[in-house]
Amino acid sequence: MGKIIVAHSFRGGTGKSSIIANLAACLACRGHRVCIVDTDVQSPGVHVFFGLKAEDTTPSLNEYLWGRCTIEEAARDVSERLSGVSGAGGRVFLVPSSIGVNDITRILKEGYEVSALSEGFSRIMRSLNLDYLLIDTHPGIGEESLLSLAISDVLLIIMRPDYQDYQGTSVTLEVCRRLEVPRPLLVVNKLLAGYDARRIAREAEKTYLCEVAAVLPQSDDLMRLESKSVIYTSQRDHPISREIDKIADRIAAVR
Ligand SMILES: Nc1ncnc2c1ncn2[C@@H]1O[C@H](COP(=O)(O)OP(=O)(O)OP(=O)(O)O)[C@@H](O)[C@H]1O
Ligand SMILES: [Mg+2]
Repeated sequence: MGKIIVAHSFRGGTGKSSIIANLAACLACRGHRVCIVDTDVQSPGVHVFFGLKAEDTTPSLNEYLWGRCTIEEAARDVSERLSGVSGAGGRVFLVPSSIGVNDITRILKEGYEVSALSEGFSRIMRSLNLDYLLIDTHPGIGEESLLSLAISDVLLIIMRPDYQDYQGTSVTLEVCRRLEVPRPLLVVNKLLAGYDARRIAREAEKTYLCEVAAVLPQSDDLMRLESKSVIYTSQRDHPISREIDKIADRIAAVR
């Protein structure tokens, strides 16, 4: 059975989608079959890293949740867009959320059965024979996020070195304890040059009593990509890619 990896943060813009997209590429370059599900129905974005335009986001998770298609029909194989994935025998699938304004307003207004989401996760894990299901989430504590946290095998809590994020991370970890999330891991992102990554990691581990899986630097190279592609496949030795490798190593060690 594959593992469910969830990226979450209390606040927005911490780097969840960037990290999930790069982690998917990394795991697939190691020969794994992975699928990203964008559960951020309010403000979807992870599809952009794989070159999907707005009109390419249909059929989406929305159609699946409304019972108009199967979850497999909403999944597309984006492996060919990532160099090094096919050669390694890996695969990356993506279930996007719709970026259509009517779809977003409808799903926010009418809601959906959260149980359909967990059924979809189990189903696609089996039918696509996945090694990893990677779930991108909306920030904060909402019903879908709580579900994703609760069913995760590994939860990546992404935070910036910022006191609003620090407070938010405490809240998330408290929720994790209540939900008995088996393996929360902290990922610090956007560390400014001149900060000591090891010291930040040590302090975070002491404060939160939670392991730090990686510390990613603030990177102009990443910003220059404008979310239009993942950095991992084009620059394997980039400091961001090396930290993504660390996250993948840590995940691989989870039994
Ligand atoms: N290490 C980094 N260095 C520089 N820019 C980064 C880094 N990580 C992410 N970014 C940039 O920060 C912005 C937000 O990243 P991203 O969309 O991945 O965050 P998010 O947590 O998914 O946001 P949201 O909560 O809105 O879904 C993007 O422009 C992305 O390119
Ligand atoms: Mg995002």
